[in-house]
Amino acid sequence: MRDTFPLFPQQASTIAARVDALYFYLIAVTIFFSLLIALSILYFAIKYRRRSESELPHGVEGSLKLEIAWSVIPLLITFSFFIWGASIFFAMNRPPGDAIEISVVAKQWMWKFQHADGQREINELHVPLGQAVKLTMASEDVIHSFYVPAFRMKRDVLPGKVATYWFEATRPGRYHLFCAEYCGTKHSGMIGWVEVMDPVDFQSWLAGGTGSESLASAGAKLFAQHACNTCHRPDSLARGPNLEGLFGKKVQLQDGRTIVADESYIRESIVMPNAKTVAGFQPIMPTFQGLISEEGLLQLVAYVKSLSKAAPSPEGVAPPLSKSRGQTPQGSAPASVQEPPRSEAKK
Ligand code: CUA
Repeated sequence: MRDTFPLFPQQASTIAARVDALYFYLIAVTIFFSLLIALSILYFAIKYRRRSESELPHGVEGSLKLEIAWSVIPLLITFSFFIWGASIFFAMNRPPGDAIEISVVAKQWMWKFQHADGQREINELHVPLGQAVKLTMASEDVIHSFYVPAFRMKRDVLPGKVATYWFEATRPGRYHLFCAEYCGTKHSGMIGWVEVMDPVDFQSWLAGGTGSESLASAGAKLFAQHACNTCHRPDSLARGPNLEGLFGKKVQLQDGRTIVADESYIRESIVMPNAKTVAGFQPIMPTFQGLISEEGLLQLVAYVKSLSKAAPSPEGVAPPLSKSRGQTPQGSAPASVQEPPRSEAKK
């Protein structure tokens, strides 16, 4: 039916069918109640029409049962929207631990991609079929929005923040990529393609690339170049937190708050170091705002992440953003007892 009556784009990701199912449910509920209300109006208008000039309406008593029914039933129906929608929302926002990572920089007016091992692309993104892909996205200027209708995936990319999102393509082919947020004169030209390839072809495509260095090692170079390692070091001379094993963990801040060290936090700590000072450290780090490109920031983020992957993972540490049930190997440990004391002790 989809081919002869193409109201919807193709379903080309694992989430697409789920999004569509919810959408159809919303449409069905809407149609049902529209008809119910319209037909009831007609029916009552006819049934209770005024039959003679002298006819007077009689008083209507309230009905508690009826009022409870028309409050509780719609409440339950709207809850079903919420629960169904939330379950899809959580699935969309929690990349599986084995997702391959690709960094995305949006700018007026193009999409720049960089694969984990360094391969770059512009307005074209090659991804393997049947493999989860996690995008780490940042904007160099204004708000853009990464939108691939066939994947039912749309995520705003805001300047000053790192957005992450993931998808798993289920069908080989080329799919339109749009910018879905008005971003200036050539917004409509900020389009591209996502090419879903057979994993074997994808590997050979990757191998045939320009052979630039990986995201993390480019980040390591920047780290050394900006002399970050003079303060962020594991020994007693450290004037900044040790970054090894930091990613994805909880961090205790000076002001008593606890936050998770995710992509956005790491990026923010480079450009606005004093926004969230780690407990036990002086706010002495200078800002690197304007000194490091958005791409460079993502490379540094990849580098900091790589410090956690290489290090032996202490127990209780979940892979970033994937604390959903079934994905955390140590799922039995309640989140609240994980980590903070341990990372504190280490610093
Ligand atoms: Cu970028 Cu619209």
